[in-house]
Amino acid sequence: MTDTAPALRPGALLARTRQELAAALDGDTAPRAVVMTMGALHDGHFDLVAEAARRVGPGGTVVVTIFVNPLQFAAGEDLEAYPRTLAADVDGLVRVLSGGPGRPRVGRLVVFAPAPQAVYPDGEPGVRLDAGPMATVLEGAVRPTHFAGVLQVVLTLMHLIGPRWAVFGRKDAQQLAIVSAMVRDLAVPVEVVPVDIRREPDGLAMSSRNSYLSPEQRARALALSRALEAGRAAAAAGADAAGVRRAAAELLDAAPGVEVDYVAVVDPLTFVERAGAGLGLPGADGVAAAGEVLLAVAARVGPTRLIDNALIDLG
Ligand code: PAF
Repeated sequence: MTDTAPALRPGALLARTRQELAAALDGDTAPRAVVMTMGALHDGHFDLVAEAARRVGPGGTVVVTIFVNPLQFAAGEDLEAYPRTLAADVDGLVRVLSGGPGRPRVGRLVVFAPAPQAVYPDGEPGVRLDAGPMATVLEGAVRPTHFAGVLQVVLTLMHLIGPRWAVFGRKDAQQLAIVSAMVRDLAVPVEVVPVDIRREPDGLAMSSRNSYLSPEQRARALALSRALEAGRAAAAAGADAAGVRRAAAELLDAAPGVEVDYVAVVDPLTFVERAGAGLGLPGADGVAAAGEVLLAVAARVGPTRLIDNALIDLG
């Protein structure tokens, strides 16, 4: 277990409890941004941190939360197996914010890595958020309690940290859309900032769950990003949303060792279906022929469930 408190450089703080977090932020009036993570940080996370640093500027405070949120895992999912690498995560954060060549420097880095009791002091919270209809399709259809659990922790952390900006990756596009909707609907005074997906040189979207893949499974997993490329190519050749979906689905369905969960074309903000596939949200009757759509895919490679997506301009 590497989940021990590492030494931080001056100006960086590790808080493990609500009290330590409050003390770390007490009297700090500098611009503040938060990046919420479940740890096992990779370059995709570090892009979010760099964007947070850019937002707050050299005198600002970046808070990075590292918390594997039990509420967003259903029974039988990978809560226990989820990689926990706190010491390496903190080292990476300090390096990324070192102010070295090409790297931003911020006034302060605060890493909040609480135990579940610190986030949910009374155990299972009694008051729950309803993530709404957007949380019933795609990821929500497979993981019905997932987004409510995400919103529970995101709103709690927003209240504990009080950031001006909260930076989220486009890799979890449905999470980004639902968090943005929560912030709008509940008038949370935080600006949600999206950051593009970071990919490996061969196209695989970076994810902490990629560490579960064997070399053979990793090679097979490339079918997801290739399916997105096929969809993009179809759009460039003039396809409408249904054609984009078909091109991506054909590639993914033919990929060996890949069990397809869904291939969908949706509105990136509302997750309303745009390819006439009838996913369940109202407003799905037309097939989009123009505008920006989100091509989203999910598939199982061995025991690992992977997701990926691309914003596509239908021209
Ligand atoms: O995207 C994630 O890693 C998690 O869903 C989040 C936003 C940190 C909430 O636990």
